[in-house]
Amino acid sequence: MKIVYHEKQKVFHLWNESISYVMMALPNGQLGQLYFGKKIHDREGLSDLLELCVRPMASCSFPGDRSFSLEHIRQELPCFGTGDYRSPAVEICQPNGSRISDFQYQSHSIVSGKPQLTGLPATYAEDGSEAATLLIDLKDPVTAIRVQMSYTVFAEGGILAKSVRYLNEGTEAVQLTRAMSLCLDLPDCGYEWLQLSGAWARERHVKTRKLAMGIQSIGSLRGNSSHQHNPFLVLKRPCATERQGEAIGFSFIYSGNFLMQAEVDAHDTTRVLVGIHPDAFSWKLEPGEIFQTPEAVMVYTDRGLNGMSQTFHRLFRKRLARGQWRDRPRPILINNWEATYFDFTEEKLVQIAKKAKECGVELFVLDDGWFGARDSDRAGLGDWVANQARLPRGITGIAELIEGLGMKFGLWFEPEMVNEDSELYRQRPDWAIATPQRVKSHGRYQYVLDFSRKEVVDCIYEMMAKILREAKVSYVKWDMNRSITEYYSIGLPPERQGEAYHRYILGVYELYERLTEEFPEVLFESCASGGGRFDAGMLYYAPQGWVSDDTDAAERMKIQYGTSMCYPISSMGSHVSMTPNHQLFRDTPLHTRANVAYFGTFGYELDLNRLTEDEIQEVKGQVAFMKEYRKLLQFGTFYRLQSPFEGNEMSWMAVSEDRKTAIVGWYRTLNVVNGYYRRLRLEGLDPDCRYRESRSGSVCYGDELMNLGLCITDVTAGEVTAGQEPCTDFESRIYVLEAE
Ligand code: DGJ
Repeated sequence: MKIVYHEKQKVFHLWNESISYVMMALPNGQLGQLYFGKKIHDREGLSDLLELCVRPMASCSFPGDRSFSLEHIRQELPCFGTGDYRSPAVEICQPNGSRISDFQYQSHSIVSGKPQLTGLPATYAEDGSEAATLLIDLKDPVTAIRVQMSYTVFAEGGILAKSVRYLNEGTEAVQLTRAMSLCLDLPDCGYEWLQLSGAWARERHVKTRKLAMGIQSIGSLRGNSSHQHNPFLVLKRPCATERQGEAIGFSFIYSGNFLMQAEVDAHDTTRVLVGIHPDAFSWKLEPGEIFQTPEAVMVYTDRGLNGMSQTFHRLFRKRLARGQWRDRPRPILINNWEATYFDFTEEKLVQIAKKAKECGVELFVLDDGWFGARDSDRAGLGDWVANQARLPRGITGIAELIEGLGMKFGLWFEPEMVNEDSELYRQRPDWAIATPQRVKSHGRYQYVLDFSRKEVVDCIYEMMAKILREAKVSYVKWDMNRSITEYYSIGLPPERQGEAYHRYILGVYELYERLTEEFPEVLFESCASGGGRFDAGMLYYAPQGWVSDDTDAAERMKIQYGTSMCYPISSMGSHVSMTPNHQLFRDTPLHTRANVAYFGTFGYELDLNRLTEDEIQEVKGQVAFMKEYRKLLQFGTFYRLQSPFEGNEMSWMAVSEDRKTAIVGWYRTLNVVNGYYRRLRLEGLDPDCRYRESRSGSVCYGDELMNLGLCITDVTAGEVTAGQEPCTDFESRIYVLEAE
């Protein structure tokens, strides 16, 4: 990787083997964008990529030059009000009410590695050889606001990480009312837009549409990144597929309100903006104060959507996730939520754990209901002290019992919430978010604690840390079951109310940081009613997250398939649950429930005592399979092969780093009578290597499997011959390929 500055023409060129990013200081002093895409040669004179021409009716802010119109120039930090009528990346309201800024190039520096972003999650480099960062300083001569633009290029992968820092060097306070993290002005609009959207229990479905003139956007104003829209976006060429073609992926490393938009203008150029949602946001910058935006990451690939996803997976697994669990295969767990809901005793929990232990499960997770007066969702949140009626020996006692069985113990918290019926609320009602004189909306009978206030975060930290210090807790599930409403922070003055949402999420990050620092051996799993905050920001603190409250295998295929567009398999909490399924009341075969959950962290969300002996034998086989292959499944190279959004079948596969082993998962929603001939073309194998396939025992070369495909024709449908298991709806198969 390299960062070069061509002084004569003030051009910056950042590149590695995969990508180039080119910018220049424009004749008016502002920073212009010239190129982002596949690597190109470096040369003097790249500034001629700046396309200037005289256009009728254009407004020109550069005296005497009719060709220099910001309306037509691709920029790094566009502002509104001086000729560029597209959405801006920054807006600053000044003491006289003006919102115009003019950020001019001052200086730059190139540093090896990647500086940290204080208080915010971000990708990182472990040493100077892994990445290089270009820091460009701009300044507005009128307000004296200094901006530092940060661009990191990694040695490997088509990745560019961007963030922006504002420093008030003036003498008066200003209000930052928009501070996007990334602006990418593309020279054309020949793209399809791909987003991951849905709802509770239906998160991250793949939705695509053609880019069109005007603004298209996704975002959240809920205080969490949301079930509805994930902070991830792809612009792909219409001809690009999973296997080939150009795509640019954008991920916002942030868990709060966000906006991602693409604006196609009248001349077919496209402006992409990524950042904190400007609605409900403002930030007062007193003289000497700094505002740091979160980071946005872009990935360019010409190797199709799989190529893009693999780049995100590797980056997020290795250089976003941190801590002792980052590179370790994840424990197979059993969670009691769908087994008991709030109806449990210590004895019942131990019975569930014992059966799980017999099946080889490694970690028992005690979910909601263990604390305070929590008999239902109406009480107890905020009182992080064990309920003695249910757990006579407290968390220490139940943890010891579980450890005594030879399993690890995990515990659920919902740190950001409080019920009205709780000791915490009775003592500190003012800690719940509410606007004076307004209705205080509840969600699931709970209120959100004002995490923008330090004393609130401190108090919750003390309660949680006490338990983690005293009891043998190896895993924490951090839940968050409602979004924010009526946000008014009594800890902030009126002119800083626009800071509340961002300060809230900074409070969440701070609590995570303190807990993960004090308890580095604890595995954290994030959760927000399933996938309501499944984002890259969370991955920095919790290397895995509960993908969705929907545990139905057929629904999970879609959710996990969509999630894999950006997030690694090792980050996806996925469990086998009971049938009929608790969300859809649907029956799916036990093997299919496991075959879907293998492509994730894997666990069980049921009481195994309710299974038949045959099913228990099957579960034992599943656990043994996962133990043997979890390293490959969670950390191998993942390929999507067939989309569940496009047909009756879905398939994906994981390949080990040395390409000696691969696991293919094939799934079919509805059974097909007198079925079709089918071959599944695989990916990522060594063409010259001979692989033995586990189901049929057949041996063939990698090139056959990738070009002719693996034979998956189903001859049983419609007629069951002796010795064959009949297929049903929701059939699936796992194929293991081992090099000979
Ligand atoms: C929502 C989570 O997603 C579930 O897994 C469970 O922990 C419940 N909350 C408990 O209230």
